Amino acid sequence: MLRYNQFNSATDVAMKLSKFGQKFTRESGIHQLMVDLEEAAASQHPELAMLGGGNPASIPAAQQIFANEMESLLSSKGFGATVGLYDGPQGASEFRSVLCDYLNEKFDWGIKPTNISLTNGSQNSFFYLFNALAGDMPDGSRKRILFPLAPEYVGYADAGLAEDMFRSRRPKIELLGRQQFKYRVDFDNLNIDDDIAALCLSRPTNPTGNVVSNRELEQLNQLASAHDIPLIIDNAYGQPFPNIIHNEVVTPWHDNIILCMSLSKLGLPGARTGIVIANQEITQMMSSLSGIITLAPNSVGAALMTRVIKDGEIDHLTEEIIKPFYEAKLATALQLIDHHFKELPIRIHRPDGAFFLWMWMDGLPISSEALYQRLKTKHVYAIPGEAFFMGIDPSWEHTRQCLRINYAQSEEQVARGLAAISAMLKTLY
Ligand SMILES: Cc1ncc(COP(=O)(O)O)c(C=O)c1O
Repeated sequence: MLRYNQFNSATDVAMKLSKFGQKFTRESGIHQLMVDLEEAAASQHPELAMLGGGNPASIPAAQQIFANEMESLLSSKGFGATVGLYDGPQGASEFRSVLCDYLNEKFDWGIKPTNISLTNGSQNSFFYLFNALAGDMPDGSRKRILFPLAPEYVGYADAGLAEDMFRSRRPKIELLGRQQFKYRVDFDNLNIDDDIAALCLSRPTNPTGNVVSNRELEQLNQLASAHDIPLIIDNAYGQPFPNIIHNEVVTPWHDNIILCMSLSKLGLPGARTGIVIANQEITQMMSSLSGIITLAPNSVGAALMTRVIKDGEIDHLTEEIIKPFYEAKLATALQLIDHHFKELPIRIHRPDGAFFLWMWMDGLPISSEALYQRLKTKHVYAIPGEAFFMGIDPSWEHTRQCLRINYAQSEEQVARGLAAISAMLKTLY
């Protein structure tokens, strides 16, 4: 039998890739990081402190709910349809209808199931949305997506089919007590040029744990409406589920808002289920894209969550299991920060949501990328901040002074990792 690598000697013709093939196989710093993280996790090194990835914690009580649902699905008549039939391209209709009722009851948005489409995860949703709204337009112009508040979720960076599809804006920095700070949208510099097709922000934000205030969001909403472009809100960590938000905020929806949700941070990243709530035109567009690109979205995540949402058990899951779990993790992480970093010129972004601490190391003598490499030799993994400032002038030193720390992992690893970061910083400063 011939194997692929039998053709792959140095003298053979190199694989010829299209522009698409080249763009989406290009080595990116963040991809290399993910490979590092995977190798580190597999190494099972006794000193490993894995504060790097974006995985949610595995919470036993949440896993139990998912396992129970899986068991009743297996023994139910619905099992055959769940795994044996394609859903429509807009996603499982019973799930959309149950979710619609739940959201209307909670938020009074007045949506219909025809405002909801499912995808294979938010990452998939963004790929469709960004490329359908921006890129090379029929009139020959180039449209772009604007991130009003960098740093932003690194997963957006390479999701454009066209080159140079994203713009972002530098934040204002507000200094707070307890060695904390907060990024604010700099509305004075938020000019929205004609090439902007949509605004997009994650709220809560990965990597910073920021939750853009109600007032800032309302201002963004008004700007988007005034320019007749949609406002995309990435609600992967937000309300009503998983609701990893530590302060009181409002999540708005209307015809000009595209709200992207996901089952991942509830603890189901493997179920690859994204939810997009948008006007019917956008929903139709998502459905058409889904039909062509994947035929139908995954049915399993929707099947697992339909009863949980219908019976209101989702509120028990978010309010009594997920939220307290991450609040306790955060409290421990902040105590460790107070303990280890008091003497150091660092600040933490006020952790309002998600499960990351974003550390700003003012005046750091080396770049955060170089710090990452040094921490790696100690088996400590946290993500250097550079990649999250996509589109921001790299001459701004702040872009090389930040580190993202995932505090959702075991207390032992978080404690060991923070102690090692503090020791390293003490020698560096
Ligand atoms: C802000 C944000 N949006 C979207 C995603 C992607 O989520 P999904 O698993 O639904 O594709 C992530 C994953 O880490 C995220 O942090």
